[in-house]
Amino acid sequence: MRNLIDILELSTEDINGLIEVAEDIIATPEKYAEACKGKILGTLFFEPSTRTRLSFTSAMMSLGGNVLGFSEATSSSASKGESVADTVHMVSAYSDIIAMRHPKEGAPFVAAKAATVPIINAGDGGHFHPTQTLTDLLTIKRKKGSLNNLTIGLCGDLKFGRTVHSLIAAMSRYSGIKFVLISPEELKLPGYVKYEFLGDGKIAYEEIDDLEKAMPELDILYMTRIQQERFSSYDEYLRLKDSYILTTDKLECAKPDLCIMHPLPRVNEISVKVDEDPRACYFEQAANGRFIRMALILKLLKERDLPDVPRVGMSVEGLSCENPRCICRTEQELPPLFRCADETHGVYRCVYCDQKAYSKKK
Ligand code: NCD
Repeated sequence: MRNLIDILELSTEDINGLIEVAEDIIATPEKYAEACKGKILGTLFFEPSTRTRLSFTSAMMSLGGNVLGFSEATSSSASKGESVADTVHMVSAYSDIIAMRHPKEGAPFVAAKAATVPIINAGDGGHFHPTQTLTDLLTIKRKKGSLNNLTIGLCGDLKFGRTVHSLIAAMSRYSGIKFVLISPEELKLPGYVKYEFLGDGKIAYEEIDDLEKAMPELDILYMTRIQQERFSSYDEYLRLKDSYILTTDKLECAKPDLCIMHPLPRVNEISVKVDEDPRACYFEQAANGRFIRMALILKLLKERDLPDVPRVGMSVEGLSCENPRCICRTEQELPPLFRCADETHGVYRCVYCDQKAYSKKK
C-alpha cells in the first residue's frame, strides 16, 4: 500500500511527476473528469480545516468520485473514546482512500498501519503536512519556473508550523537552496527538523529574528500564523502573536519578483493591503491545492498495490517518548518505537513524532 505520511516518502521524480500531472489537469481538466468514477475518498478531520478538507473534497469530485467523512472529532466516535486505529480500520471498509488530519503527532502513521486503503496525512499536530508542501511546490514551480537556486525566507511560528517542517524537508533535496529562518527565539525551528534536513552543513541556512533585514535577499517569503492551539500557555501566545506583521512598507526593499506565500488561514500576519501587491501568491497557492491533490489521489490509487516506504522502529528498554502531543501517549497499547539517530551519542527519535527520546533510567 502506498501512503503519504511524510513528504520524503515521495522521491523528487515522484514530485516532478505530480507537478506535471497537476499542470496537465489545470490545462485540460475535462480529461480527468471521470478518472475516479465509483471511488470514494474518506476525509477524517479530527481538527479544524477549511482549505485542506475542501480542496480534497473538490479534488475527488473533480475526478468524478465521491466523498464521505467528518470535519470535527466531536461528530465522530473519537468523542466516545474510539482509537485512531479502530476508526481508520472501519472507514477502510467504506472508502478507497483516506485523507486524515489529527492533533496528535504520528496519528497518520498509526492509521496507515490499521488501514487497508491508502492514507494521506492532511496534517498531524505540529509535525508534518505533506500535501500542503505539494501545493507549495506546485506554486513555486509555476511562479519561479524551477525548484532550484532559491533563497527562501520562512517567517513566524517555525516551532509548531507543520507546513514549514514539510517544506524544508522537501526543498532540502533541491540544489542552490538557502533558508532564512525568521522567528522569535521561542518559536525557532525544532531540533529534529534542523538535524534531519539541514544538519552537517548539508543546506545553507541562517536563523534571525528581523524580517526587514532578511527581505532584500529573498526569492520567496513564506509567512505563517502563530499557532495558538499548540501553545501550552495562553499568555505566551499573547506575548508572541504579533511578532511579525507584513505590511506594504516592509515590502519596499523586497525583490520585484518576490513570491509571497502563506498556507493560510492568516490572522493578522499579512496586512490585507498586501493582497493587492502582484507579489502576493497565497490565494493562487490555495487554489493550486485542489489540482495537486487530484494528481496525488490518482497516483496513490494507481499505486495502491506497491509496497509502502518502510518506517522502521524498535523498542528500546528504558526509553519512552516525552512529547505530550505524540500519538503514542494516547493510543491504547501502542508500543513505543524508536530509531537510532546518532549512535555515538546514543540519540534516539520516536518513530511516530520524531522527537528526541530520553531514557527513563537517567
Ligand atoms: C495550515 C495547517 O493546517 O497547518 N493550513 C493549511 O493546511 N492550509 C497552516 C495553519 O493552520 O496555520
